[in-house]
Amino acid sequence: MEKISNELKKIKKSGLYRELNIVEGAQGPHVKIKGRKYISFCSNNYLGLANHPEIAKAVEDAVKKYGWGAGASRLISGNMKLHETLEEEISKFKRKEATIVFPTGYMANIGTICSLVSSGDLVICDRLNHASIIDGCRLSGATFRVYPHRDTVKLENILKKSSKYPRKLIVTDTVFSMDGDLAPLPDIVRIARKYKAMVMVDEAHGTGVFGKNGRGVVEHFNLNEKVNIVMGTLSKAVGSLGGFVSGDKNLINYLRNKARTFMYTTALPPAVCAASIAGIKLIQKDHSLRESLWRNVHYVKEGLKLLNLNLVSSESPIIPVMIGDAKKAVNMSSFLFESGVLIPAIRPPTVPDKSSRLRVTVMATHTRADLDKLIDVLKSG
Ligand SMILES: Cc1ncc(COP(=O)(O)O)c(C=O)c1O
Repeated sequence: MEKISNELKKIKKSGLYRELNIVEGAQGPHVKIKGRKYISFCSNNYLGLANHPEIAKAVEDAVKKYGWGAGASRLISGNMKLHETLEEEISKFKRKEATIVFPTGYMANIGTICSLVSSGDLVICDRLNHASIIDGCRLSGATFRVYPHRDTVKLENILKKSSKYPRKLIVTDTVFSMDGDLAPLPDIVRIARKYKAMVMVDEAHGTGVFGKNGRGVVEHFNLNEKVNIVMGTLSKAVGSLGGFVSGDKNLINYLRNKARTFMYTTALPPAVCAASIAGIKLIQKDHSLRESLWRNVHYVKEGLKLLNLNLVSSESPIIPVMIGDAKKAVNMSSFLFESGVLIPAIRPPTVPDKSSRLRVTVMATHTRADLDKLIDVLKSG
């Protein structure tokens, strides 16, 4: 226990200690913390669906019909009508043959990567991939190689020396969650074909946000026929909870039989599936949500460009303001908080050393006044 206390002291001293805020009402562009209203610029609730009335109604109806808990894992007796409906809806939305839903995106990545490769195989990752991908790669037991962020020359160099591996898997975020830039997917797909490697993409921040129909970055690059393993999460633009993988029937049946994070865990409550189904339908039906998100994103980016800030080249609603030092980032975040704007500092180990930042995320439901306030406060900070 003494070791734990010492480690905690060290974490605090280096400005890396994390504390939880308690949001007192529902999630939205404005949240209440300790009785005070803040404009939230740190949620993945991109389209505002986490508190949408149509979704709340779908949840209410599902609880009345199906109760709350699923009671067992999918493979025992927890597989209910709404799990199947959700998988069908995601397959239609993603234009894939079949889908498997996991309780979270984190579990989808871990279970899928560990099923696709194991000891003796090769798994290759962008350096800035999400923690759940990194953890999946480590747990898989496969040889794990990392290439510098978006560097497809280095990716190809790794593959040039990969002929001894029976299975090769490239895994990449499509939208990088801390930098907001996009993976060079057309190049990755081309190189993967050349060396007969599988490509798995994580559309956590792409789903509902990118593509003409909100299907994701794969749609944005028109690569649906060429990317065979599409992972995503229902916890961000869809406003709900759960992870999924879409692909051909063989792949999905394989994962149903192999992925431990699917097999050995209780199924999602059916009402959560109802929320996801309603969210996916809304994304497809109401394009104005996405239009308003992108209008807001462009407005904020234009506004921030005029300030003397260190911005990296984001291509998404994730807009990092680079600070560098962890303590400075915390001070800046506290200043914003005092001014009524909620943006926690993102620090190591979530991001590399000396690259602490304020990660601004924009939502469809922010008003022009909210966006102006963000720009004003950052100007005076
Ligand atoms: C790129 C990426 N992949 C996976 C996940 C995990 O998804 P979930 O929150 O559904 O577990 C996240 C969320 O933090 C993410 O940003």
